[in-house]
Amino acid sequence: MVKCPRGISQVKLVLRLLGAIWVSSLVIIAGFALVQIYAERDQILTDLERRAWLTGEVLKEAVEPAIQRGPPARVERIIKKFGSPRRGIAIYDQFAGLVVATPDVAPRLPPSLPMISKALTTGEAQKGIETLAGQKTYLYAVPLQGEGPPLGALVIFLDASHIEINPSDLLQQNTVRLLILASVVSLLTLLVVKWSITHPMTRMAEWARQVRAGKATPPPVSGRFFGSLASEFSELAKSLDDAKAAAEREALLRLEGEALWTEERLKQFVRSQLNDTPLFVVSNREPLIHQWRGNKIEASAPASGLVTAIEPIMRACGGLWIAQGSGDADQETVNAHDKVGVPPEQPAYTLRRVWLTKEEEDGYYYGFANEGIWPLCHIAHTRPVFRASDWAAYQRVNEKFAEALLEEMRDTERPYVLIQDYHFALLPRLIKETRPDARIALFWHIPWPNPEAFGICPWQQEILLGMLGADLIGFHIQFHCNNFLETVERAIEARVDRERFGVVRGRHTTYVKPLPISVAPEGDPGDLGISREELLRELGGSVALLGVGVDRIDYTKGILERFRAIERFFERYPEYRQRLVFVELAAPSRSHIKRYQDLDEEADRVVEEINWKLQTKRWKPIVYLRGQHSHKEIRPYYRHADFCMVTSIHDGMNLVAKEYVSAVEEDRGVLILSRFTGAARELVDALQVNPYHIDEMAEAMRLAVEMPPDERALRMRRMKQIVRERNIYRWAGLLLEELTRVSVDRAGVAEV
Ligand code: G6P
Repeated sequence: MVKCPRGISQVKLVLRLLGAIWVSSLVIIAGFALVQIYAERDQILTDLERRAWLTGEVLKEAVEPAIQRGPPARVERIIKKFGSPRRGIAIYDQFAGLVVATPDVAPRLPPSLPMISKALTTGEAQKGIETLAGQKTYLYAVPLQGEGPPLGALVIFLDASHIEINPSDLLQQNTVRLLILASVVSLLTLLVVKWSITHPMTRMAEWARQVRAGKATPPPVSGRFFGSLASEFSELAKSLDDAKAAAEREALLRLEGEALWTEERLKQFVRSQLNDTPLFVVSNREPLIHQWRGNKIEASAPASGLVTAIEPIMRACGGLWIAQGSGDADQETVNAHDKVGVPPEQPAYTLRRVWLTKEEEDGYYYGFANEGIWPLCHIAHTRPVFRASDWAAYQRVNEKFAEALLEEMRDTERPYVLIQDYHFALLPRLIKETRPDARIALFWHIPWPNPEAFGICPWQQEILLGMLGADLIGFHIQFHCNNFLETVERAIEARVDRERFGVVRGRHTTYVKPLPISVAPEGDPGDLGISREELLRELGGSVALLGVGVDRIDYTKGILERFRAIERFFERYPEYRQRLVFVELAAPSRSHIKRYQDLDEEADRVVEEINWKLQTKRWKPIVYLRGQHSHKEIRPYYRHADFCMVTSIHDGMNLVAKEYVSAVEEDRGVLILSRFTGAARELVDALQVNPYHIDEMAEAMRLAVEMPPDERALRMRRMKQIVRERNIYRWAGLLLEELTRVSVDRAGVAEV
């Protein structure tokens, strides 16, 4: 039934196309025929002219003396000799009266011919076409010269009947041409229309019907023509799908009577509370890296907890994100202002890249941030390194980012600035000094140690003063807030207001709050591209249980301890050999630092050693996937794993724990979680372990795989609820709410 109108419109389209082809072919062929007629006529005329002139001139030479000296019979002989059935010759006297003519032309001659009189009076040769006795004839009349006026005229008559091109011949010839041309073009057009328009359109229509029915299938056509239409349509379908899913989620939440934070709620909140003031985010790591892969540029998201958390907020609220451009194709993908829209296919916010020199990156990022502050704040027994040159670079880079940020918010009054992490401890003060009206939050994504531990930093005062330029400093947990306040009390002159949890210096107060960061709620998992059965089959024929770990290769993550626990588990419980595989997805990180290089090598070595010891022909206990993995690649492991191990030696929060809880199948999954992570405070239903205690971790693995299904489901359900409720939108909402409560004036006085 639906086919009918589509069929009709297709027939119409084809008829229109064919009509246009036939009319244009007709016009073209008729035009060419006309041109051909005129060209042929011109050629015949030129030919007649040339022949008549030649004969006339030759004869004139012979006839002139004969006519002067007579007798007329001589003249007659001469012209008969030159005459022929298609070439008549006649001699006229000085009064245009016929003297003699060749027999073929004589009977056709009229009593007078004006052309002859004209030749006699003007003394010049005359030429033209006349109809003599119904036959087209070319005339060439040349005066015969004597002593005085012309003695008469010599006239050449040439048959010009062929100058008349027969229209019926022409029509016949060209009708055949027209038929051939129009038929070939029509046939080709029909084929092209069928394969390039009708066929893809039918497939697109079928695909659109499937998308409308909620089946997420890839578009059936690609390429420039329909490809761009298809990808636009895909985007549209995706947006509609997202909107539908969001509406469904909202409806569900309303039914549940919960006031959950959602992307939509955060958007509304930002709109109403921030009055559309744009958000400014600063971090070292950018949310989107462009890199050359062969001669193509690829965009990818880096493995970073920070990016995982902030990216959904920026997608929801828009604004500007300033970060270091670190991809080798980053420069090629920004505009003249170093900016690029993210996500590139449908930008929701702007990324402004700041370029650092190699020396700056070495000193600020690898040196001070990651060899100094990172080990200083993590109690992981790696000694921090403090070099004066690194500190100088750290200061310089903070100033560089301050310049970029000040430039970007030049036209924004009372801007909201969210500074991320330990790379920018000095930035809040640098901004506040120039823009006291800015509302500044600094979120510290890593732990804050006790005052003794932090006190070994040679520049602890500068760092604290820099941080206190912010109106709000956030840590993941209360314990880190307490440590920070104690450090401030001991290291600098300031009043700590324990009641309101703030640091007062002069007229400015910096509030210090615990704000546990989180992940975006998991949407519909959709098609992961691989089922659990397929995944297990890939890992070995007899494998029935899957464990997973996802980490940057970092000494704080307890990766080696985890491997040793896995080894111990298989030693203690050999019945699990060939039945359980642990997949570790490990992303190389900060690889210019020796400590990281050593760890990277050691991880390879330990995996090799354990596998060598335990493996069989078709089974390895640890599948070590070292490399950068996209969310899409990680998701099937999260979703299908029976347990996930997060065994950090020390961690601010650890979002892998929350990502796993959020993504794993409804009644599957056990989280084994280090008690030294921020996440352990919230995810109390995880099996909490001490990563230094290898036997305890091995035992936790056994508990995980042998846990009664009811208990497993209950624990996971409770954790899922916590992660769903305390999601990243709530984190951003609470942070911004705190910041809106801060009232700033031009003098930079912060009050709540
Ligand atoms: C982890 C930390 C973040 C930090 C990030 C940096 O995710 O929790 O606080 O910003 O690592 O990683 P990167 O690869 O950018 O050095």
